[in-house]
Amino acid sequence: MKRLLSGIKPTGEVTLGNYIGALRQFVEMQKDYESFVFVADLHALTVYNDPNELRRRIRDIVAIYLACGLDPKYTTLFIQSENLYHTNLSWVLECNSYMGELSRMTQFKDKSKGKGNEAISCGLFTYPALMAADILLYDADVVPVGVDQKQHVELARNLAERFNNKYGTTFKVPEPIISKAGAKIYDLQNPQKKMSKTDNSSKGCIMLLEDIESAKKKIMSAVTDSENRIYYDKENKPGISNLLVIYSSLKGIALEEVEQVFKDSNYGEFKKSVAEEVAQFLSSLQNKYKAIIESGEADKILDESNEKVRQIAEAKVKDVFSKIGVGR
Ligand code: TYM
Repeated sequence: MKRLLSGIKPTGEVTLGNYIGALRQFVEMQKDYESFVFVADLHALTVYNDPNELRRRIRDIVAIYLACGLDPKYTTLFIQSENLYHTNLSWVLECNSYMGELSRMTQFKDKSKGKGNEAISCGLFTYPALMAADILLYDADVVPVGVDQKQHVELARNLAERFNNKYGTTFKVPEPIISKAGAKIYDLQNPQKKMSKTDNSSKGCIMLLEDIESAKKKIMSAVTDSENRIYYDKENKPGISNLLVIYSSLKGIALEEVEQVFKDSNYGEFKKSVAEEVAQFLSSLQNKYKAIIESGEADKILDESNEKVRQIAEAKVKDVFSKIGVGR
């Protein structure tokens, strides 16, 4: 069976964009792959986090994974920092990456823009090598991600090929999987910009654990245009197109079908339907989340997968160390 691997980092609260762009795919694909999904907690350290908040968000992501339908029968769930081999391989990959290629990562360019060198952590720069390690450690065949992470998966491919050429076949070369619709959910107030965890407080971002009424209000006040006709046109109608994608993803129906349903509606009616759909989705998810947190089942699941992921990663790192000539 082919392997799937992906993760979410606990910087800020998990958003509807993370669900539609990534998590939803993990759930849909889990039965067709040997699946590994983790909390990328070491990735959160590229910026400062309050330690208690960080730990709370790590637990929340695990509970959200389960609440969204990741099933331990099919998916091995784990926390990155609990498997120390990730950072071992990351160092080796950093030493096989070039300043040039890491400088070309658009996320690095965006996040460091306008900041002086003293304000950017070295981790922000080398972070894609850690992400490559996450993927290559497990010989992942496919990596479902939103479009903003595609370039990082492509770097992982390049690093795998470079290493294999230098030292002999060691790593599987992974494929990014980007969903056809919903690969990028936009900010509700600024539909040119990605809906992002780092803008949690904004009116443009819906969080999975957010108060339902507040989420509905955000949909109702989403920026649109003045045409008052509902159809998908990403260039000229980014706000309406974003709402159409959100509705179609949550409802599980094609965009064309959604356009048909709302062809005679005005923006107010359409937004109300989208708000209702989001509210239903959030409230069902949040009920499951609460039950999972209260049951304490997440710890048991994580404890059970730890040995499995450790063994896989240890074997890979030993193979790498032996090939590159470190140790005895
Ligand atoms: P992160 O935590 O920023 O995002 C998690 C996943 O959600 C997707 N995503 C979106 N998709 C659609 N619309 C949006 N507005 C949106 N915002 C985020 C992201 O593309 C991602 O798939 N570096 C990664 C985490 C990571 C990882 C890995 C992923 C670490 N190691 C190995 C895959 C494999 C990150 O920061 O994602």
